[in-house]
Amino acid sequence: MLRVVVLISGGGSNLRALLQRCDDPAFPAHVVAVGADREADGLVHADEFGVPTFLTLYPRYPDRDAWGTALLTAVRIWEPDLVVLSGFMRLLPAAVVDALAPRLINTHPAYLPEFPGAHAVRDALAAEATSTGASVIVVDHGVDTGPILARERVDVHPDDTEASLHDRIKQVERRLLADVLAGIAQGRIDPATAAAA
Ligand code: GAR
Repeated sequence: MLRVVVLISGGGSNLRALLQRCDDPAFPAHVVAVGADREADGLVHADEFGVPTFLTLYPRYPDRDAWGTALLTAVRIWEPDLVVLSGFMRLLPAAVVDALAPRLINTHPAYLPEFPGAHAVRDALAAEATSTGASVIVVDHGVDTGPILARERVDVHPDDTEASLHDRIKQVERRLLADVLAGIAQGRIDPATAAAA
């Protein structure tokens, strides 16, 4: 059983979908803890599924490196096989990436390397793209530049708003993330040998 720690910053709808998948005893991954860098609304989903939570509040630390060290300590308590950034909206210090990668993955609401960054859905609409997508990548030192584990196209509809498009992308993200976790758990996907973007 793959032990997974999930880190979130927001509403955690993708986390919730993952917790539902992990409720199936046949699913080969298990979320052992959920952490956040702020009082994220999504922590309630972990509570509901009886999964422990931890907070490493950014403003409590003198600088990013100190915060990163505390976050790493909190994550390691759970002895995860894999750490998933699921709507975690703060860049990790390089030392944290070095400590956890390649068993550190991120979901992103675009077809990387298109539209990296914090506003991928808005950026796709602003660029008048006819399609965007969803990606699951290994985290490296760049912003959404790591090796791609899975990605899939999502069409942009003419009447799409940022919310409607993001909702449709998240449906795909949830499926890709679950597939990647199962693939890693079953040895079909190796984050260490994934091709660079
Ligand atoms: C997801 O679409 C995730 O890919 C995105 O935040 C959303 C979180 O939604 N992450 C990024 O944009 C990171 N660059 P959720 O809180 O409802 O799961």
